[in-house]
Amino acid sequence: MEIRIDGSDAMAHGETRTFDFPRNGRPAQGFLIRYHAGFHAYLNQCCHWPVALDMGDGDFYYAAADRIMCKTHGAVYQPDTGYCDFGPCVRSSLDSYPVQIHSGYVIITVPD
Ligand code: FES
Repeated sequence: MEIRIDGSDAMAHGETRTFDFPRNGRPAQGFLIRYHAGFHAYLNQCCHWPVALDMGDGDFYYAAADRIMCKTHGAVYQPDTGYCDFGPCVRSSLDSYPVQIHSGYVIITVPD
């Protein structure tokens, strides 16, 4: 399944957008992050507990640490890989999805 996110050219470094999709027959949410010139897409679910990273506020990027941060217990993930390098789920990785970059929009491919 492909998901189109419009307006990606206007996204600033560290800015994120959420998107909804069905995952294993249930509603799920992912997010797209602009990180420098690139874009990366992940499942909005911590590797520690099955909770949303952002607690629903749409804010994922913690600029002071240059990391995506889980707001429940503070695990941090590398924005360009999804790899957790500090916190209770260290050495695990967020579920990631391929991103195709086009002029003005991106396409995220999530499993059907
Ligand atoms: S639930 Fe994310 S660090 Fe514990």
